[in-house]
Amino acid sequence: MQTAIATQDYRLPPERVPETLVETLSRDERDEYIHQLKQLLREQNAVLVAHYYTDPDLQLLADETGGYVSDSLDMARFGHESDADTLIVCGVRFMGETAKILNPEKRVLMPDLQADCSLDLGCPIDEFNAFCNLYPDHTVVVYANTSAAVKARADWMVTSGSAVDVVRYLVDNGEKILWAPDRYLGEYVQEQSGADMVLWQGSCIVHEEFKGRELAELKQQYPEARVLVHPESPAPVIAQADVVSSTTGIIKAAGELEADTFIVATDRGIFYKMQQAAPHKTFIEAPTAGRGATCKSCGHCPWMAMNSLTKLLAILKSGENEIVVDEDIIERARLPIKRLLDFAARRKQAIYGNNDA
Ligand code: 13P
Ligand code: SF4
Repeated sequence: MQTAIATQDYRLPPERVPETLVETLSRDERDEYIHQLKQLLREQNAVLVAHYYTDPDLQLLADETGGYVSDSLDMARFGHESDADTLIVCGVRFMGETAKILNPEKRVLMPDLQADCSLDLGCPIDEFNAFCNLYPDHTVVVYANTSAAVKARADWMVTSGSAVDVVRYLVDNGEKILWAPDRYLGEYVQEQSGADMVLWQGSCIVHEEFKGRELAELKQQYPEARVLVHPESPAPVIAQADVVSSTTGIIKAAGELEADTFIVATDRGIFYKMQQAAPHKTFIEAPTAGRGATCKSCGHCPWMAMNSLTKLLAILKSGENEIVVDEDIIERARLPIKRLLDFAARRKQAIYGNNDA
């Protein structure tokens, strides 16, 4: 099978990447904020839907208030199934938009509307549309990390946990694939599925910085360690993995594998849940820039870091930062997202015999 690539490079230049700023509060401030937040969430029938890369305090608050902490697929699923009036998405913009698309009748707020994603920013709709027009006979498959407008142009949306399965299914139906925006995940999916694919050339500024050579050196220092890798990482890093998986899959592997030590190639925010899943195990960050340091945000997403207790409190008090998506876009973007949710539900049904597993 062949892989064609879009000629233009859509990786985000460093000047468009913000600094990673992590909020620090005193113990008293933190406790007081959490106390007020719990009350406001209850009064407003609001729930937190948080990603694993966000501040541990936000994850803890979500867990303690009937909210949810997960990967992008399950965040979409939970938001869709929750009966809260307000969903507060602690993550990045595309996660808030997906929640709104699936729940147009609900109020969806985010602590910071500037919390974006280099993959989304590196896939502008007009250029993506022109790219799709070059391949009218291809099925358009986009990663969740895209704008609502890009999803509205797609046939399928996939997440890191579902991309290989969905593309294999499409290959079995004889379909050729146009993939966007992550070049590394696209290469991995192509290699796993054997699909005939054209690839958009975007990247995640966090995962792209994991380095193959430095990882090989680290593995020599810890020969007993298992290597867990998110598939947004470059091929030389993926090639050394014991497990390549979504964030949920990485946490599961930490709990289930026999090893005591793990080298982890994904955002360090995930360590909070990994430590809960396997309290006595040791987790080591995979090396990032190494000798050729170029990243401002090594190992932690600057946009995920924009979610903080202070901003959460501010939006619950003011009602600001509501996610608004055009009705026409909602209508069209819902189809590729629903296709994935239905596909994932059918898979679960086939594997576990019910939808609750
Ligand atoms: P997951 O769906 O695996 O959580 O990935 C989302 C993401 O943005 C990873 O960088
Ligand atoms: Fe986007 Fe990468 Fe941040 Fe995930 S870690 S939200 S892919 S920039």
